[in-house]
Amino acid sequence: MNKIKLIKSTFLREQDTKERLCNFIKDACVLSMGSECRKFEEKFSLKQGVKYSVFVTNGSCANLLLIQVMLNMGKLKKDDKVFISGLTWATNIMPIIQLGLVPILIDVEKETFNVSSNILKKSYENNKDIKCLFLTNALGFCSDIDNIKKFCEEKDILFLEDNCESLGSEYKQIKLGNFGLASTFSFFVGHHISTIEGGMICTNDEDLYENLKLARAHGWTRNNSNKFKENMKSKFSINNFYNTYAFYDLAYNFRPTEINGFIGNLQINYWDEIVNKRECNFNKFNEAALTNDDILKLKIDNLNIVSNFGFPLLFRDKIKFEKYRDLFIKNEIEIRPIIGGDISKQPFFRKWVDSIEDFPNISDIHVNGFYFGNNPEMNDEEIGRIVKLLKVTQ
Ligand SMILES: Cc1ncc(COP(=O)(O)O)c(C=O)c1O
Repeated sequence: MNKIKLIKSTFLREQDTKERLCNFIKDACVLSMGSECRKFEEKFSLKQGVKYSVFVTNGSCANLLLIQVMLNMGKLKKDDKVFISGLTWATNIMPIIQLGLVPILIDVEKETFNVSSNILKKSYENNKDIKCLFLTNALGFCSDIDNIKKFCEEKDILFLEDNCESLGSEYKQIKLGNFGLASTFSFFVGHHISTIEGGMICTNDEDLYENLKLARAHGWTRNNSNKFKENMKSKFSINNFYNTYAFYDLAYNFRPTEINGFIGNLQINYWDEIVNKRECNFNKFNEAALTNDDILKLKIDNLNIVSNFGFPLLFRDKIKFEKYRDLFIKNEIEIRPIIGGDISKQPFFRKWVDSIEDFPNISDIHVNGFYFGNNPEMNDEEIGRIVKLLKVTQ
């Protein structure tokens, strides 16, 4: 029996992609950020349906850069409180702490693994001075994100999306990542599209776009539009001699390379194929899970496309969890905790954040849940092996 791993390959059509990459590298004059990266940004904007995309080194950098730019632009300031889902990846929260903001965790629904507008509203009652919601769209799902957006608008809460786990999912025909002011994506191996390492920030806001490009590369304006460059030059009275060596604001070097850009331009052609295959697998797993009373039923009514890379299972109790955990392992199916489990239990969080709040749903997911992989290269035998296990009550 072959092992069904969480991640099967580095990219879809791996051999072909590697061969083309070798030829590209042999012939390329420039391998630092250039035309391949720009082309990938343009293609990504078209597929995602946004005006602007900024390609960066990975999804974690995308999150850090986005929060830095919120500070640079004065949309957030030091000590501001930021709502974060308690079921998320560490580097969704870390930039909040690193940049002197205060993370306030919120619980998620068990049926969607995501924050709902009701949970958000309850958390708001105790945190009326909240300034931002940096929402994770976990595992290709969301809850009622349209109501979340509406509530944020009503209360003047800055709404950002970490969409690193949900490329391609659609809620009421709108792609996840298109609800907030900006959204971040990851192209790490195993995510929907892989550039080995890579990340993206999308927005429709031109000023934010220009500021993201500035903060992606040292704080200079070399990659900005002429209009933005000239404005900055005159605003800060920079002379021609220092024009290309003026560092305007706090920044990083999060530039990707042409290698990542080239891979992105190949892999993005498979976007529909990848999303369709993941959705098709998801439907098979979900149909099987729905027949099993040991497993909590997912609520995905308003998602017209579920593009997920891991299928989460939440069991009734610890005994059931352990039974299925052992069964999956015995059947050579790799499993893992759901994202990082309860993020408030992670050592970094305990070290840096004073929080004693307990989140009942996330605690349950932490103890009684795991996920297995869903990727576009799964074969019928592998899908069948998983479906068989899901169908039988233990
Ligand atoms: C929700 C979320 N945000 C951010 C990241 C970080 O992305 P990367 O691995 O590209 O740094 C991940 C990674 O899996 C993630 O799941």
